[in-house]
Amino acid sequence: MTTKDYSRYPHQYPDASGHFGSYGGSYIPPELQVEMDKITKAYQTISQTHRFIEELRSIRKHFQGRPTPVFHADRLSEMCGGAQIYLKREDLNHTGAHKLNHCMGEGLLAKFMGKKKLIAETGAGQHGVALATAAAYFGLECEIHMGEVDIVKEAPNVTRMKLLGAKVVPVSFGLRTLKEAVDSAFEAYLKDPINSIYCIGSVVGPHPFPMMVRDFQTIVGIESKEQYFDMTGGLPDVVCACVGGGSNAIGIFSAFINDPVKLVGIEPGGRSLNLGDHAATAAFGKPGIIHGFKCYLLQDLEGEPAPVYSIASGLDYPGVGPEHSLLKDEGRISYEVADDKEALDAFYLLSRVEGIIPALESAHAVAYTMKLAKEMELGSILVNLSGRGDKDMEFVTAEYGFSMDEAKKKL
Ligand SMILES: Cc1ncc(COP(=O)(O)O)c(C=O)c1O
Repeated sequence: MTTKDYSRYPHQYPDASGHFGSYGGSYIPPELQVEMDKITKAYQTISQTHRFIEELRSIRKHFQGRPTPVFHADRLSEMCGGAQIYLKREDLNHTGAHKLNHCMGEGLLAKFMGKKKLIAETGAGQHGVALATAAAYFGLECEIHMGEVDIVKEAPNVTRMKLLGAKVVPVSFGLRTLKEAVDSAFEAYLKDPINSIYCIGSVVGPHPFPMMVRDFQTIVGIESKEQYFDMTGGLPDVVCACVGGGSNAIGIFSAFINDPVKLVGIEPGGRSLNLGDHAATAAFGKPGIIHGFKCYLLQDLEGEPAPVYSIASGLDYPGVGPEHSLLKDEGRISYEVADDKEALDAFYLLSRVEGIIPALESAHAVAYTMKLAKEMELGSILVNLSGRGDKDMEFVTAEYGFSMDEAKKKL
């Protein structure tokens, strides 16, 4: 855990230049910096106004259906035979994942700023669906960039985005996954930064996005802490969450950072721990720059972002949020790995044992939690179940069948 005082968190980070220690900042062309400065200023003033806060609160309650519950996974806990497992049910947030928490905040800011169009990338499609939903809600245009590989893998979410009125732009260069989708969306944004706003999908990108997305996701932690206390009269021993860019993780961790609670981010171990076969960035990366910010980064021999892979499209990103990078260095968050097979196993198991089909991203956190619960014997673990698995059902069953026994024959 930690001996450092985090009582001023989250106001401790970032500093005025958008740095989390040596991470974060803004490494972008001057013309884009002008626009980022405007967004920073608008966010810092507008988001503190009563009108903004009231409207966001009302959206959270009446449109998103918050608060989402915390659920004691009784049967899963019994099966693991150790620590008690609790799930924060972000899969029950409207659109099926935590992503809508920051998209509605970003959409509301866009409305207050007089923007006409929301632009973003998406990997698993959850951020794309959430942003398309926000655009429909606020009456704005929406353009989502998505790698061709992910378009095939996450077909149900592509249909949802189109139904919601978004234009989906296929990205056909490089590995055709999340990193290239970010490159493509950035390029589109640069063409018209006056009328549009780039709503990045995680706690990544240049300042102010890691701060803004973090702030909008703190609702997950605030609710969880209160709900868990109501249920048990105390604090969990461990809080776990999967980490792609790190938004659902920082959202839930933020409430527990100054408490005697172990915080564990679970990264995708993919097919193997050889470079190119996984996306465990905080665990195996080193400091570098990607998409306008500094963070732990998986790099090739030339120092360029390395190719990455995970069965979960939303986790295969070579960077990680700057706040995660700092909190890793400070020893406040530890980072562990769950591989494709473990995530698949958790995907099937949670479906059968608790009646909850998790997103493949969230299944990584469940997989690690199950292992840890067995080791701990006593105590409790709160897991952020960041999203539901409807988007993954077709892909998983077509590739691997309907149970882990069936899957093992194909793996
Ligand atoms: C359900 C779900 N969980 C987690 C993630 C990973 O993103 P982050 O690390 O920003 O929470 C994604 C990304 O698409 C997702 O769809």
